[in-house]
Amino acid sequence: MNSVRFHHSVIIMIVIVFMVLLCDLNCQTNAACISNANKSKCSIKYAQEIDLYASRIANVGKRGRFFPKNTIELEQFCMESKNMTNSMENYMKQCCERELGHVAKIYLYSLRKNTKTFCSKRNNKRSAMIAKLFAVAPCINQKIRDFQCLARFKNQTRQIMQYRDDKEKIRRSCCDWIECEEQFINDLPCINDEQHREFAVDLLRSSRGDTQRFLCGDFDETSDQCDHLKRLNSSLFDPKMRIDSRLESLVFIGLHLLDTIGQNPT
Ligand SMILES: *[C@@H]1O[C@H](CO)[C@@H](O)[C@H](O)[C@H]1NC(C)=O
Ligand SMILES: *[C@@H]1O[C@H](CO)[C@@H](O)[C@H](O)[C@H]1NC(C)=O
Ligand SMILES: *[C@@H]1O[C@H](CO)[C@@H](O)[C@H](O)[C@H]1NC(C)=O
Ligand SMILES: *[C@@H]1O[C@H](CO)[C@@H](O)[C@H](O)[C@H]1NC(C)=O
Repeated sequence: MNSVRFHHSVIIMIVIVFMVLLCDLNCQTNAACISNANKSKCSIKYAQEIDLYASRIANVGKRGRFFPKNTIELEQFCMESKNMTNSMENYMKQCCERELGHVAKIYLYSLRKNTKTFCSKRNNKRSAMIAKLFAVAPCINQKIRDFQCLARFKNQTRQIMQYRDDKEKIRRSCCDWIECEEQFINDLPCINDEQHREFAVDLLRSSRGDTQRFLCGDFDETSDQCDHLKRLNSSLFDPKMRIDSRLESLVFIGLHLLDTIGQNPT
């Protein structure tokens, strides 16, 4: 487990270093994965369609989708997950710049892994997982659309994107996300059973995908790193960096954030 984690962190570090180097040579000012005139297929309209899938597949938030409570809903859920993941992959292949495409791949990989947990008939733990899913879904579903801190997190991230210290801004958004997620998890009083609670927590955490873990390293809920962040220096904000607010999903916000890496003279 730890070695897998380490392995992926190294890959991400390499990707980031690569992005920073590349950006020095030829820096993009376009929004992440929404393309320029030369890729007319990658329109804002297409991006918005994918943005909606990304919001649905993440489950939480006002555009989230409900978890299945029975076999019929599960079948629909699995089919939809598969379709949306494939559409997202097609889009990212066509429209993301190469370096962002690498990060997108890691995200898609973890989406597929999550889908397999409940949808692959070859998974021999599947029936036990499904039983737990059906047990916790009604409770989680009550809260899904009411994920209050999500809007705040998005605002925080849009602001921190303008910060001219790459390491610090990634850490900040990692910590802001953890704070939001913990708030949501601690606000599920309708789950009493300890085992179900643990399952629900894993389920919610898994939806952020492996990408977040790889990007954030130790800045997660298991350490106290987030309690010791540096103070932000207000003169390091660059208001010239504009964020496209038409795209609302965490995926696009994350890609946007990564797209600003290496654009700062430090
Ligand atoms: C599109 O391609 C043309 C010719 O290859 C190039 O001059 C132009 O800068 C490109 N535009 C963008 C937005 O990348
Ligand atoms: C998934 O895609 C297939 C083929 O494109 C389509 O027939 C099916 O209705 C889609 N299902 C859902 C749930 O979107
Ligand atoms: C986020 O920012 C928008 C635009 O500045 C604002 O209207 C909205 O109230 C903010 N939401 C939260 C939860 O901070
Ligand atoms: C804030 O950043 C500015 C510009 O880089 C720098 O001159 C200043 O010393 C920094 N202030 C602090 C308190 O670090």
